[in-house]
Amino acid sequence: MKRIDVGLDDRSYPIWIGSGILGQFSDLFHSYRDRQWAIITQQSIQNLFGEKLIESLNSAGFNVIVVVIPEEEKAKSLSQVESIYHSLLEKNCDRSTILMALGGGVVGDITGFVAATYMRGIDYVQVPTTLLAMVDSAIGGKTGVNLPQGKNLIGAFHQPRSVVVDIELLQNLPDREVISAMGEMLKYGAIQDREFFMRLKENMNSLLSFENETLLIDTIGRCCEIKADVVSRDERESDLRRILNFGHTIGHALETTVGFGILKHGEAVAYGMIAASYISHDMGYLNRKERDLLESTIRNLPLPELMQIDTTTLLETIKHDKKVRAGKVHFVVLKGLGNAIVTNQISDDSLVRAMELL
Ligand SMILES: NC(=O)c1ccc[n+]([C@@H]2O[C@H](COP(=O)([O-])OP(=O)(O)OC[C@H]3O[C@@H](n4cnc5c(N)ncnc54)[C@H](O)[C@@H]3O)[C@@H](O)[C@H]2O)c1
Ligand SMILES: [Zn+2]
Repeated sequence: MKRIDVGLDDRSYPIWIGSGILGQFSDLFHSYRDRQWAIITQQSIQNLFGEKLIESLNSAGFNVIVVVIPEEEKAKSLSQVESIYHSLLEKNCDRSTILMALGGGVVGDITGFVAATYMRGIDYVQVPTTLLAMVDSAIGGKTGVNLPQGKNLIGAFHQPRSVVVDIELLQNLPDREVISAMGEMLKYGAIQDREFFMRLKENMNSLLSFENETLLIDTIGRCCEIKADVVSRDERESDLRRILNFGHTIGHALETTVGFGILKHGEAVAYGMIAASYISHDMGYLNRKERDLLESTIRNLPLPELMQIDTTTLLETIKHDKKVRAGKVHFVVLKGLGNAIVTNQISDDSLVRAMELL
């Protein structure tokens, strides 16, 4: 079992990564055995893994309750948060209760938010079941829910006590979810580690088919390491953490204008990274060879084709993004593959030009 630490003083925590390690959950959390546990999950995930996990925890003497929330992104709402509070109160959960987020990013984000706010904050652990959650959303303590006006508008920073990544859970994950996560995985290489980017490129087919467990564990581990490193140096995204948004400014705009659900998040980010690499090249930061390398690697993924996009609407959407501060778009560019910087010196013209080329 691999262990990676997120270093945040007294809020530091381990990320455990392995195959079949959910079976060792009761050993890993032996010291938390006397606490009341509340698993927050969705019905489909409860059917796949929840029942078996509860059985093994019960037989190890854990006191476990389950709260099931709706499927899909609509579960990330304030009304669901309230409904979880009611369920926890009904079951007499108090400040010593520990929550377990068993699911993808949707379950992780809302569980984290409930943990941040229930009785002014309680402990939680993340057990991500999608590849995207394993390499991204389960780590770093960003929690939140959506409003009708936009995604993730309500939230809090609240770090989990631990993250347990069991790659066995990925067996039934739909292919598109895997490809979407690959967008975020390539992002880590692009922003921080050129050699890792090349390794992803060279092993792409093997990674997408999960045929090599060791390679998959090492690869997820490297993503977690990069995220852990960035988060521990800038927990609240005042500066460095913004580099994790590489590909996200245009990516979010694409998600919003094309429509959520039509383009998955990681797919939109993948296109956003291509556009950001054009801009990096235009600004003289990224040479043509590296720009082409990034683009061809991404275009080799089976991404859905982009319909004709209206760049004026896209630009409007970008200007309403959370990453715009005092009217300036904070944009992540590559200063060479494997090295990201944030700039606010970006013109509308170059944004539009890059989006037209997608
Ligand atoms: N907090 C953060 O730092 C952060 C970072 C990135 C994304 N996010 C959030 O994460 C969410 C997206 O996460 P996601 O992509 O995991 O989506 P998700 O949680 O909706 O899961 C995607 C789909 O996979 C299914 N699923 C989950 N695990 C499965 C498994 N093991 N086998 C088969 N099917 C499974 C789910 O039921 C769902 O239909 C978004 O709400 C996004 O805003 C948060
Ligand atoms: Zn993302």
